[in-house]
Amino acid sequence: MPRGTGQGKTRRNDELQMIDIHSHLLPGIDDGPRDWEQSLALCEAMSADGIATAVATPHLIDGIYENLKPRVVELTEELRSRLSAVGNPLEVLPGAEVDISSRLLVEGGAGLPLLGGGSAVLIEMPVAVIPSALDDILFAVRSRGLLPVLAHPERNQLLQANPALAAKWVDAGAALQVDGDSLLGVWGRGSDRCARTLLRKGMVHALSSDAHNVDSRPPRLSEALEAACSLIGEEAVKLVTKGPAAIMSGRLPDTPLYRVDPQEAETTPTGKTAMTSRISRALRRLGRSHPR
Ligand SMILES: [Fe+2]
Repeated sequence: MPRGTGQGKTRRNDELQMIDIHSHLLPGIDDGPRDWEQSLALCEAMSADGIATAVATPHLIDGIYENLKPRVVELTEELRSRLSAVGNPLEVLPGAEVDISSRLLVEGGAGLPLLGGGSAVLIEMPVAVIPSALDDILFAVRSRGLLPVLAHPERNQLLQANPALAAKWVDAGAALQVDGDSLLGVWGRGSDRCARTLLRKGMVHALSSDAHNVDSRPPRLSEALEAACSLIGEEAVKLVTKGPAAIMSGRLPDTPLYRVDPQEAETTPTGKTAMTSRISRALRRLGRSHPR
């Protein structure tokens, strides 16, 4: 669903083109923006943060948020049109964050929105439990040729107590998407610690904003990327580029997405790696300041 290159849609070649596969951009259909004005403000904040491509992933919860594919696609098209009208270069694609209890995960069907219109499905991990049906759900999704992507597993309290559980899900063919806010301490120490453990173990495939609004849950993916670079080195950039791109294609790389390089992750006296300093400089050149 590429958009044309109209006025105001060119980007500098040296700009980091981040891909965000988890965001709540569409108005009035979940706990994201309430109207188009808020939606456009959020998109503006995403562009300012350095996000070039964002998948709109409204909640899909049976009987509560019935955000099936036709509705999501229609609203995404309207948002793209409105972004074009105001000269915002953000590329928005349709998707959904599917509740783990949704019948669509097991039954499938044309109504299931896939990430970026590709062949991956974003599944919301609960915070307090690990459903006994999770293995069956992963198998059902895989058996239909789709890539299951677990959203923010690091926020699950049981995984926080035993992060090794995630290896089983990855072995079952799932990709793991970590919320950038977890690395910034927004979701507490347990989520932060779990996210860092998953990163160090090389089990994360995408770092995403999960942005909902410009106030309490704004996009701060560039800051989260800096935190990831400080932890594992500049290969962390793949978590906002190659990893999410692979997820949208429905196929993960055969080799690990990134190497954990402790040398690269060594901090300078100012507390930043060479890579994170480069990111900061690039953002400053673009006239952005980092949210803190
Ligand atoms: Fe979300």
